Formats: sequence, structure tokens, C-alpha cells
Amino acid sequence: MTNSAKPFQFPNGYSPETFLESYWQNQPLLCRNALEGAGKSLTDEEILEVAIQDVSDARLITMEDGKHEVEQGPFPLDRFDILPTTPWTVLIQSMEVWQPGLQGLQSAFDFLPRWRFDDVMVSLSSAHGGVGPHVDQYDVFLVQAAGRRRWSWGGPVHRSAEDVALRQVSRFEPTENADLEPGDVLYLPPGVPHEGVALSDGAITISIGFRAPGITDLIGHLADVVAETWDDAVEVEPRYGDAGRDLSRDPWLVSSTDLTGLKQLLLNALGDEELTARALGEQISMPRFPPEAPEAVPEPGELAKLLQAGWRLERWAGSRLFHHPLDAQRALLFVDGFSLPVPVEFAAWVAGQETISADAWRDWHQNPDALLAIMMMVGRGTFGLVPGSKERA
Ligand code: SIN
Ligand code: CO
Repeated sequence: MTNSAKPFQFPNGYSPETFLESYWQNQPLLCRNALEGAGKSLTDEEILEVAIQDVSDARLITMEDGKHEVEQGPFPLDRFDILPTTPWTVLIQSMEVWQPGLQGLQSAFDFLPRWRFDDVMVSLSSAHGGVGPHVDQYDVFLVQAAGRRRWSWGGPVHRSAEDVALRQVSRFEPTENADLEPGDVLYLPPGVPHEGVALSDGAITISIGFRAPGITDLIGHLADVVAETWDDAVEVEPRYGDAGRDLSRDPWLVSSTDLTGLKQLLLNALGDEELTARALGEQISMPRFPPEAPEAVPEPGELAKLLQAGWRLERWAGSRLFHHPLDAQRALLFVDGFSLPVPVEFAAWVAGQETISADAWRDWHQNPDALLAIMMMVGRGTFGLVPGSKERA
């Protein structure tokens, strides 16, 4: 397990507050010894094993004549039996899903809300390996887990029209550089050109990436939710109205007043707090790797018996759960792109749980909304039944 329950150690004189105030989304910050021991038990073999799994999102980047070549997985099972002789890097997205031990690392970044977290990308490089100078659109904490890597960053952005896959820049004029040792962390906000080059074989970097939803996704999902809401209720669907309108002198004209009226209809939808909370919360809880629904789901009575016998409900490592209180009693629980109305305390509790035990079941199963939510999550595979240690032996 690569758990790191240790808090993030900001440089002397810095606190999470000062970081958020002056650096987050704004400027890079090098933090020496910020996460000592992070990812220490992650081995080269484990990384390569995950890289050849069909389900993982892996890439191999090799250097040929000074140019970076990208090979996108899935790879043949023997792809890494013989490693390239030129400098190489293997990148795996969402490693926390395949190595749930890495999830512990997320708690070091709890000075930011979990919904902003996107994934843990792991890179393994041979000496001189890297992905080349590029720009990312997202905030990232680059955690050195093993070996050493030289990072260079800063300077103007010269976008490259040719390279789309690696988002490389055509010219790289960094203003800063540093050699990162295990435990060191470099924070980069979006849009800062950077390049990491491994200084030794077996250099492992863990990139804690954050997501920033774009307007396309947000509006897209809001439109779906609005459409669903009024689908079966056309007679009460909010509709444009123009009683008392001025006389039309140009019948082909769409006037500014008309557009304002139409726009108001949309603004009214946005003004519906519960509807927008639902749509936006569902969108930001969309997982990269959704859980798989189990073939059979036990009835609540059967589930209670299994939990009593030592089984437990374990959360799928790729699931995203968040909560938003609507009032003192009611909350929305966002689960992997869905939302469920539940009691406020239940939402706040379950969003942070990795397991649901018999005790927790006893506390909540009598509440119909909480029970419905648990059963729905079991039905979707958000929480899966796992035998207790007795049954496993
Ligand atoms: C790497 O780990 O080598 C690449 C990470 C990045 O630059 O975003
Ligand atoms: Co990058």
C-alpha cells in the first residue's frame, strides 16, 4: 500500500491558506520534502503490469532521433518484456483506480475540495526519458516518488500546431529549473510550459491532477437535466411569453427585447437552485472509470444478513461521491454523474466512506431515502459486496 496519511508540508512560512491565496491557479511553487515517502512502495514491475492491462489508460513515449513518439495502449502482453533501448516513459492515467493504495495520497491535498481532484497519473522513466516540453490546461502537483527528475518550467507559450497528443510547445524557454528528489513536489498551475527529464532509470513521478469543468460539459448536462425535468410535463413547461408586446413593424426582425425575453427563460432555469445544483453536481461527479454493475443485487434483508455475517460494502476506487446540503434536512448526494435526495447527515457521512459496515447499515437502513441511496449505489456497483476475512480464509 502507498498510503500517505501525512499532511502536505509546505515550505517554511507557507500554509495551505497562503498557497491558496498566492499560488493556486496562479504561479508555480517548488516544495522540497513536501510528501516524504509518497508512493514509496510503488514498484517498476507494478507500474508495467498495470500498463499492459486492457482496461488501463496507458501510453509509452520513446525518444527517436530527438523526437518523442507516442504509443497509446492497450499494449500486447509482452510489450514491456524487452524495454526500449532509447529513453522511454510509461504514463498511466487514473492509477488510483488500479492501485487503490494511492488513494491515501489524495488526503494530503484536502485543502482543496475533492470534486476538483481528477486523477493520479503515474510515470515511470528510464534515464533521459520524458514527454517533452508541453503545456497542460489543468493544475497539477508533480510528486517525485522514486529516482530523480529535472524539471524546467516557465517562459512564454509557443504552441505547436503539429503535436496534439503530447500538447508540446514548439519552442521552450524555461525560466526555472530544479532537480526533484523523492518526496519533493512541484506545483504547476494551468498554462505554464514545463518539461521533466529523468536523471536516472526507474524515475517515478506521481501527478496529482485537478479538473476544471468547461462550459461545454456544464451546459450540455444542464440541458439534459432541464429536458428530463419537463419531458413528461409539457403543459407546465416554462415557455416564452410576450403578452402586451409592441406592434411588429418588420415581421422578420428578432428584436433585442425578444432575445431578452428568451434569455430570461434560461436565466430563470439557472435561478432554480435545486435544479442547477443537481445538474452541476452530477456533471462534476462524472467518473473517468465508472463502476461495473454487479450481475445480481441482494434484497435489503439479504444484504443486512451478509453484513451481519462480516461482509462489507466497499467503494469502487474510481467512484466520485460528493454532497450538497439543500437545507437543514435535505441534501443532494452526487454519485458518479447521478444525484440522490437524502438526509443531510447521511450525505455528509457517506460521501467520505470507503466501506459500509454492519454498524453503519444499522444506523441508516431505517431511513427510507438513505436505504434507497445505498441500494442504488450497490445496484450500480459504487459499493460492492466483499466477503469478510472469515469467509476469505
Ligand atoms: C511526467 O510525469 O513525466 C509528465 C507529467 C507532466 O508533465 O504533466
Ligand atoms: Co505536464
